[in-house]
Amino acid sequence: MSDSEVKQQVRNFYDQIGWRMESDGFYQNARYEDLRPVAKEYIEKCHLRINKHLVRPGKYLLDAGSGPIQYPAYLSYMEGYQYRLCMDISIVALQEARKRIGDRGLFVVGDIANLPFKSNIFDGIVSLHTLHHLPIPDQKNAYKDLYRVLLPGKNAVLVNGWTESKLMIKWSWLPKSIERFKKFAMKFRGIKKDNQSEKIDTKVVEINKSKLPTGTFIEKLTADRLYKELPELKFDIYVWRSISVPFLRAVFHRALGGKFWLKMLYALEENYPEYFGKNGQYPLIVVHK
Ligand SMILES: C[S@@+](CC[C@H](N)C(=O)[O-])C[C@H]1O[C@@H](n2cnc3c(N)ncnc32)[C@H](O)[C@@H]1O
Repeated sequence: MSDSEVKQQVRNFYDQIGWRMESDGFYQNARYEDLRPVAKEYIEKCHLRINKHLVRPGKYLLDAGSGPIQYPAYLSYMEGYQYRLCMDISIVALQEARKRIGDRGLFVVGDIANLPFKSNIFDGIVSLHTLHHLPIPDQKNAYKDLYRVLLPGKNAVLVNGWTESKLMIKWSWLPKSIERFKKFAMKFRGIKKDNQSEKIDTKVVEINKSKLPTGTFIEKLTADRLYKELPELKFDIYVWRSISVPFLRAVFHRALGGKFWLKMLYALEENYPEYFGKNGQYPLIVVHK
């Protein structure tokens, strides 16, 4: 597929499917997230990690691949900025984003690998789960272009998953053991049919290798490759979330003290952000200019 075909496919996907509102009040895209109450606090605290790295106050915050600003925590990124410029290849995303931020938003349909802005203009940049929709050469262009439009002294905060996570591979025995334990407990209690909502996903390793259909084009990087591809860029890698969604769903359950264990995990990530950023599933990449 050529670059423009990839972008067309991604745009169609988000216009027609990803940003379609489902009957539960969430966008279709939110089905890739763990929406269970047990995970809510952990997920929200991870979303808020972005705020630590934004340099405030400022006039313009660029949200590159903003989507519809789908989670309440995402609204906090614009605190301290006058305007949030939402840029997305999907017009549906921007129509939805406008409903949330109204007059404080500026909305541009465009490609984040070819930014139509002059250099040194944004006081802050956020981009979550978007760069991976570009083929690697184009991702490199996007990193460079985001750097170009950032004002000196400011930061761009970028979140994407790694191709695979050493931590998730190392701990892949855990969801499998929980699944075995669950099967045993159900057999013991004479329960035959599995409850879908509590079904434990043992395919965490396979999913972690990003081989499952994701809905549209995705190409991810490893930390080593990122350093290799962008030697001239000054950036740090911290943790956004160290565990994948399948792992989260499989391992953390209310009945097994999931909320407590997620608090512990969050505390660990806070203490060792660089370790969990490089080895976990989702890094938070801070580009400095
Ligand atoms: C997974 S969604 C993430 C949206 C939002 N950042 C979030 O975290 O909820 C990816 C978004 O990136 C947009 N996108 C994908 N490729 C893009 C490109 N080349 N330029 C601009 N936006 C793009 C999609 O339309 C979609 O809205």
